[in-house]
Amino acid sequence: ETSAAMLILWAIIGYLSGSVPSGMILARVMGLGNLREIGSGNIGATNVLRTGSKKAAALTLLLDGLKGAVPVLLARALAGEDAAQLAGLAAFLGHCFPVWLGFRGGKGVATFLGLMLALAWPVGLLACATWLATAALMRISSLSALVAAVSVPVWMLVLGHWSLLVLGILLAALILWRHSANIARIRAGTEPKIGAK
Ligand code: G3P
Repeated sequence: ETSAAMLILWAIIGYLSGSVPSGMILARVMGLGNLREIGSGNIGATNVLRTGSKKAAALTLLLDGLKGAVPVLLARALAGEDAAQLAGLAAFLGHCFPVWLGFRGGKGVATFLGLMLALAWPVGLLACATWLATAALMRISSLSALVAAVSVPVWMLVLGHWSLLVLGILLAALILWRHSANIARIRAGTEPKIGAK
């Protein structure tokens, strides 16, 4: 049984990891401009791609994924499974609500995929495959994220990862909520395709 103090510590570590706005920093450092003034104004890889730099977008995806995966793996190794789940959730919340950006962060998709890969890699791989399959068919990043997020509790059920189910449902619900503007655009038929400016 992990102590409450230990759980709080891993939640803080997870939050701090998730709160690093990789996309924003990369766009700044690579001279690509202010993400708030580009495309959707979001800080994620999809919007970094709208600057025209595939390299910066790929790096953002990787770093935002690692922000979720690394605290989960560390917490599991040092404090056990409950701490790992909590660190993952906290990393996701850190990305969505970073104190450094006045709590106005991203939508959490890359961090979600990273933390899922670390918590249960078969579920994470199926979530990535679901994102890729939807993107291949529809060419819309937000829609792919929504389908992948909702698929995760289903993959958990299929693979018997009962202990992760509450977290999976919570994260899927948070991702849906964070995409409300995207959902409105999808319904209106105005959501841009991947890579469009
Ligand atoms: O991961 C974020 C993506 O699902 C949507 O990004 O910039 O199109 O709102 P964006």
